Amino acid sequence: MASKIQHRKSKIQKAQGFATITSQDKFDTAKNIHPHSSPIFTSSTYIYESAEKAQAVFQGKEEAFIYSRWSHPNAELVEKKLELMETFGLNIKAKALVFSSGMAAISALFQSVLKPGDALLAQGNIYGTSVDYFNHYGQTLGIEIIYADFAKLNELETILKQKKNIKLIYAETPSNPTLNCYDLNALAALAKKYKAKTAVDNTFASPYLQQPFQFGIDFIVHSATKYLNGHGTGLSGFLVGTDTAFIKKEVWQIRKFNGTICAPFDAWLLNLGMKTLSLRMEQHCANAMKVAGFLEKHPAVSKVNYLGLKSHPDHLLARKQMKNYGGVLSFELKNGYKAGEKLMKKIKLCQLTASLGTIDTLIQHPASMSHSFVPKAQREKYGITDGLVRLSVGIESVEDVISDLAQAL
Ligand SMILES: Cc1ncc(COP(=O)(O)O)c(C=O)c1O
Repeated sequence: MASKIQHRKSKIQKAQGFATITSQDKFDTAKNIHPHSSPIFTSSTYIYESAEKAQAVFQGKEEAFIYSRWSHPNAELVEKKLELMETFGLNIKAKALVFSSGMAAISALFQSVLKPGDALLAQGNIYGTSVDYFNHYGQTLGIEIIYADFAKLNELETILKQKKNIKLIYAETPSNPTLNCYDLNALAALAKKYKAKTAVDNTFASPYLQQPFQFGIDFIVHSATKYLNGHGTGLSGFLVGTDTAFIKKEVWQIRKFNGTICAPFDAWLLNLGMKTLSLRMEQHCANAMKVAGFLEKHPAVSKVNYLGLKSHPDHLLARKQMKNYGGVLSFELKNGYKAGEKLMKKIKLCQLTASLGTIDTLIQHPASMSHSFVPKAQREKYGITDGLVRLSVGIESVEDVISDLAQAL
């Protein structure tokens, strides 16, 4: 039996493809777990075969699971996969930790990298709750939060020259909901020059389409609730870094203190989703390109924001930085707010909800839904106009999505 497992292990290790990494469940064989497909480890603690083993584990001389708030097999399985995905084809080592949500991962980044007196330089148009979090804890912890347009690299450099306390530059690309793309190479170079670290929210692209470490970025965060899970079945998030010692010590400790590790069941669901990431992303991209082409020609639509369209101002940058253009797009209706409301009422197949990255198509009208509480002037500063509609294109037969949009428009 042991030799069979050994033989199988060496066969697995030769497999190098991205989809091979995501589809197989490789537990650490030293820990003596050999299921073909991962079970759910719902135990809160782990037992040892001897007092000596227990001592060695608690003293850090031997590795084993101790308590599920610290780590558990379902967490470790998805962490190892994400590390391989984010460094796929690169000569870079990374360490990932999985969290109970994307926000838990973002807060662990904030808490581990920044201290009172430091400043965070963040892109203005990032996920709304990230802004709320930075503003709230910036104020209570005495951390200065500076927002800027990350497309204006000269302005960023002026800020970095003036503010020597900037310790972290935080970007989200592609961004929500106008699908802008930001130059990760340039951001990493600026950060190096001014001795700051960089972090990128890679949720919209997923590691299949974009690998920020390739451009010298230090940290990546994910709302794994989106494309990585892919089915809308649970919440999870990742923080990954190339400073593996920092992640293992500082970030791990924060996750342990806050109790924000992803629960075994959610990590198990996440693993199921990760297995098909490459297939799903290919289909999301192909479908989104067709839907964008349809919308661009529609008389009720004045503008389509999709990075795959040549008309998008960041198309060439996205082509350089990403493998493909993703599944999310947004478009502007000629008749503004009223047209947006009407479309939401008439849509039949597309699901009316605010999330993204699931296998079915999701639609939302930010002005009357997700951003209805944001003052109009503030919304419009970041392109969230009254007539803007966001679509997370799924993997359905694309003709059905297009005909639903056609009848509703
Ligand atoms: C780009 C982005 N980052 C982070 C988050 C937060 O993730 P979660 O909802 O998993 O906490 C979201 C959620 O929508 C998001 O869209």
